[in-house]
Amino acid sequence: TGHFTYDPGFGSTASTKSAITYIDGDQGVLMYRGYPIEQLAEKSSFVEVAYLLLHGELPNKTQFSAFENEITHHTMMHESHKNFFQGFHHDAHPMAMLAASVASLSAFYHDDLNVDNPEDRKLAAIRLIAKMPTIAAACYRYSIGWPFRYPRNNLEYVTRFLHMMFEVPSEPLELSPVCAKALDLLFILHADHEQNASTSTVRLVGSTGANPYASIAAGITALWGPAHGGANEAVLKMLEEIGSPDNVETAVKRAKDKNDNFRLMGFGHRVYKNFDPRAKIIREMCHKVLAEMGVNDPLLDVAMKLEEAALKDDYFVERKLYPNVDFYSGIIYKALGIPTEMFTVMFAIARTAGWIAHWIEQHETPGSRIGRPRQLYVGAAQRDYASIDKR
Ligand code: CMC
Repeated sequence: TGHFTYDPGFGSTASTKSAITYIDGDQGVLMYRGYPIEQLAEKSSFVEVAYLLLHGELPNKTQFSAFENEITHHTMMHESHKNFFQGFHHDAHPMAMLAASVASLSAFYHDDLNVDNPEDRKLAAIRLIAKMPTIAAACYRYSIGWPFRYPRNNLEYVTRFLHMMFEVPSEPLELSPVCAKALDLLFILHADHEQNASTSTVRLVGSTGANPYASIAAGITALWGPAHGGANEAVLKMLEEIGSPDNVETAVKRAKDKNDNFRLMGFGHRVYKNFDPRAKIIREMCHKVLAEMGVNDPLLDVAMKLEEAALKDDYFVERKLYPNVDFYSGIIYKALGIPTEMFTVMFAIARTAGWIAHWIEQHETPGSRIGRPRQLYVGAAQRDYASIDKR
């Protein structure tokens, strides 16, 4: 029993080899397939990054347009899939609807799917990347009682999604170009992050041979928690609660108090101990979006003051707690008109590319076996069953 390595939270266990994403937490380096995140953020697009994650190489023009066409071809939801939504209470959390809805894809595309066939795996990846924005927009529109919009397949991925979210008949949607650019950037930055909790969940479920839709649905549920993808929603709620730069000091004090459960949401990361390279990029975009859209959000003042206060506070310095990617993403989402409850759904759309790339890599790796962590048993020693009247 005593011969297992005890590693709670998997702080020092590599559960797999992977060729997809590289992180150096001390240097603040993040690369997808060898390409630094800074270069991808500046020059690439989410759809191209999805191709890169899946195939390992950047596409040439022909490969890119073929990939884009395939995605466009699969953007629709099955008409009867839409009926699922009618079963949800109108104020159900969009993440609850998203997880259930994606899991239900396995009921639509299950019988003919062979996880050992590379073509089937690829089709599942395309379907998921294509349908995710459609399902996500449906979650939002159901929650506000609006009819769903069909995907407009003459538009690009991110713009198409924004139309499904916000468009109403007979009123053309006026989108400032910075909106689509900012959302595309957020999707690029969130597309993959090696063996985080949700990706490890996808791999663990995938390791049993479960179908990809069920595996991704499990990833979505893992992402939902406030310590992971739910942080973006938690950050905005926290900033609203703090309310004014004058209250920042009290918030910092509370975050340091070990008798208080309050944490500074959007601060700290298991891997990044110097800075989160995604946070650097996003911070800049956040200012740009607010300036170009003419938004004057007092929450940004709270965020700036909080960042400044925490960065010079010994507690945060000693523990190497820096703003992470989600400290700023919520402010951008808010400026784009995306409601707080949808923030983690946004993260899920982007991370689907990474999840499914990992699921495919796992199936392509010879000798992959079922994930089966061990434990150190600390329960009762053997004892005899006593009948209920003797207890
Ligand atoms: N506010 C206050 N104290 C903190 C915070 C925080 N946000 N994060 C960590 N600490 C303290 C923690 O109390 C502990 O102190 P001590 O050593 O005195 O007990 C020390 O820092 C180490 O923290 P930990 O919980 O052992 O670190 P972890 O690697 O297990 O957790 C984390 C990482 C991201 C879950 C955590 O920092 C956290 O809860 N942050 C807030 C939530 C958040 O922003 N999550 C988004 C992560 S980035 C998006 C994503 O990838 O999903």
